[in-house]
Order: sequence, then structure tokens, then C-alpha cells
Amino acid sequence: MTNRKRPKVYITRKLPDAVETRMRELFEAELNVDDTPRTREELIEAVRTADVLVPTVTDRIDASLIAEAGPQMKLIASFSNGTDHIDIDAAAKQGITVTNTPNVLTEDTADMTMALILAVPRRLVQGARVLMDKPGEWEGWSPTWMLGRRISGKRIGIIGMGRIGTAVARRAKAFGLSIHYHNRKRVNPATEDELEATYWDSLDQMLARVDIVSVNCPSTPATFHLLSARRLALLQPTSYVVNTARGDIIDEDALVQALRAGKIAGAGLDVFENEPAVNPKLVKLANEGKVVLLPHTGSATIEGRIDMGDKVIINIRTYFDGHRPPNRVLPSRG
Ligand code: DGY
Repeated sequence: MTNRKRPKVYITRKLPDAVETRMRELFEAELNVDDTPRTREELIEAVRTADVLVPTVTDRIDASLIAEAGPQMKLIASFSNGTDHIDIDAAAKQGITVTNTPNVLTEDTADMTMALILAVPRRLVQGARVLMDKPGEWEGWSPTWMLGRRISGKRIGIIGMGRIGTAVARRAKAFGLSIHYHNRKRVNPATEDELEATYWDSLDQMLARVDIVSVNCPSTPATFHLLSARRLALLQPTSYVVNTARGDIIDEDALVQALRAGKIAGAGLDVFENEPAVNPKLVKLANEGKVVLLPHTGSATIEGRIDMGDKVIINIRTYFDGHRPPNRVLPSRG
């Protein structure tokens, strides 16, 4: 970096050791080595004193917090792909640049999405639990016991055909599913051809025709409760819903009701409306084998987290070298 003074960088959560070491070398880094989530007061103090805030998805960086920022606060370099926890427009109005860590989580998140697509219909957790919880009670193989539903030959409907949605589609195609998708706009013809994908302009029409729905769009005001009670009612009773994006894209109460009423067959969820709280009704459904729940581990690989840290560092360094950081998140207007 060209400027002599090392930027003061406040990091809200514990990061991989290699990333923290590098940050210590490069910046005046305030780390969170014991990983205690920062309080609102601590975040306010941070935006008043640090040059850079490195938050992640567990921090709420809303307009009122940003309003507390001092003039020295120049950059919010989020350790995350999603940016729904940050009020990007409020930051822009205050002249604060926001960056994220796209691309490096794509394959890991798509892998976990595929794992849920397999786990729910094939009763993976239920089967594993037989041996983990009551090993002595397994009576051995039986032609009609613990039967799930076949994946191959079925139709997947992907909501949100960005990087992760496309990576899910590639995996799903390899597993013999036919690819359907709904997106704000059609993907390029080469990708559509490669995936033999069918585009649905109408989400409602797609939902009525697919066997598995995979939610892969970002959380925005426009996607809040996109899978509403009305839309969930369009699904077939044999269909499954998988969500590795954000909890609030699905109306969770409506999902519980649809599962309970047998209007859909099952769900695989890595994300929840009120994380880290999980609706006890979902936990009950999981114990009954209708739902597989994961604790937001879609992108949780060592490699991925180190890559995310590298991206945060590059964004900070580029900014303080006087250039536009590579992963700048643009405000919605103005
Ligand atoms: C992100 O970075 O947005 C992810 O949700 C973490 O898995």
C-alpha cells in the first residue's frame, strides 16, 4: 500500500488463523479471537473510530448504525457473499464504499444444495439416525423399509440463476434432473443450451410443474416471502423445497403449514427466517423425517473461508491504494 499509515480495520468475528495473521501484518487489525458476537454498542464504537469495518452475515449494519460512522470510516469490507445485512444505500449516501466476497462460495454452496436435494427425498438423515441413535434396533435390509423417492428423471426448478443457481443446475443435470429456472432475466443462450434448461418467466407456472424447488436468489425487498403461502400451494404434494440462500425468501410459517398438511413432501433448509433461532415446528418436522435442517453451513469449508478472507484483504488494500476495489457492491439507486 502506498500510504504510510496502516488502516485501522475492525473485524467483527473470528476469521481463519491465516487470514488473521495476514491482516495483522497489513493493517492495524482489531480481531475478535474469541468470536463473541459484537454488541450494538461495540459496533457503534467501531464505526466511530475505525477506517474499515469487516462485518459478516451475523451483524446488522443498518442505516442507524451507519449514521453513527465518523468521517474516518471509509469502507465496509464484508466477509460474506450476501449483503442483505448491510444497508448499502445508507452507506453510499454517507460516502462509505461496501464490498463483498463473491465467486469463492459458489461451488461449496452448490455442493451443499445438492446434498440437501439428495438428503431429503432419499431420507439420508433418517437412515443415518437409525444407526446413530438406536444401532441395536436395526433389523437389517428389507425390500420395503426406509424407501425414499428417486432423484433422476425429475424436474428441478431453480429460483435465481446467478452463479450459485447455475452451479446447482450443473450438478442437478449430472444427477439426471431436468433443469427449469426462474430468474429476473434469461441466462445467456450458451448456458441454457449447456444445461438444456427451460426458462420460466412466470414463477407460478414453474412451481406447478417441478418436483424439487431450489431457492438460490438473493434476499432483497423484492424476494421477501417470494415463496408465500399462495405460491407454496401451487406445488405438487410430492414436491420438495430446498433453501440455501436466505430464510426470509420463504414464508416459514406457510412452509410449516404446507408440510404439516402434506401439501408438499419435504424440505431441506440451511437458512432460517430468524437465525440463529429455528422455528421449533421445523425441528419437530425434522424429527419426523420430513425436513432436513442444517445450521447455515452451505459455504462452510476451510478453503472457502480462507478465500473469503483473501478477498476481504484485496478489497481493503485496493481501496487504500487509491483504486476501486474489485468487489464493490453498488447501491440500488443514485
Ligand atoms: C454469505 O456469505 O452470504 C453466506 O450466507 C455464508 O454462507
